[in-house]
Amino acid sequence: MIRAAGPRGALRGAYERIARIYERANVAVTLGFVDRWRREAVALMYALARRPPLRVLDAGAGPGNMALHLRRPAYVVALDATPEMLRANRVAGDRVAGVLEMLPFRDRSFDAVIAGYSLHAVSDMERAVEEFGRVAEYQAVVSIGRPESRVIGRLVELYARYAMPVLACALAPGRGCREYAKIALAVSSSPPNSWLRVLVSSRAELLAFKERALGAIYIYVARRR
Ligand SMILES: C[S@@+](CC[C@H](N)C(=O)[O-])C[C@H]1O[C@@H](n2cnc3c(N)ncnc32)[C@H](O)[C@@H]1O
Repeated sequence: MIRAAGPRGALRGAYERIARIYERANVAVTLGFVDRWRREAVALMYALARRPPLRVLDAGAGPGNMALHLRRPAYVVALDATPEMLRANRVAGDRVAGVLEMLPFRDRSFDAVIAGYSLHAVSDMERAVEEFGRVAEYQAVVSIGRPESRVIGRLVELYARYAMPVLACALAPGRGCREYAKIALAVSSSPPNSWLRVLVSSRAELLAFKERALGAIYIYVARRR
């Protein structure tokens, strides 16, 4: 089985350095789409869930942009491995330092896990997906994937390596904008989207799986079997 191994350490360090310019730079590098895809993932979860989730874990929460799309009332716990990101989070009811691969919560603690652009950064994707299913009934995830076509994959990688840092530095100058070149590492080291689809389907009931940006972004919603 393919593992989601790769230069994840470099990515992890980058999150510390981009915390201050984070969302402005995201808007630049995704040509304005970053939040639309988050909103789409959360809306899909509400459309497919049997009842609106009330207890929600925001996994790899960063400043909390994903949770902003939740409907009220919802009690949100933000979990992140980067303290700088967690400190910037003003959205969650509680903030917890931790990793997606070993969530510090009891089984079924949450109605849903939401994960915005964090699953691509983990060192063990299988473990993280298993953990999502262990602690929550629903999973709503949007993240960076790898298109099936090698040619498109290569084009996305080139865009990430060369265009993203330029766009990030133009719209969000300052310490950290060059770190956006490292997103190319996420693209090149991510497993293909079809692999992720099989992985999630083997651990949960996959309710929807969508690709955006030529497959560079995936959105999925799954429910515990
Ligand atoms: C690109 S940011 C996403 C933040 C936010 N969810 C959003 O929608 O913009 C990725 C976040 O995941 C966190 N992260 C990366 N790998 C992680 C891991 N293995 N466990 C916990 N958090 C992780 C990073 O610290 C970072 O804050």
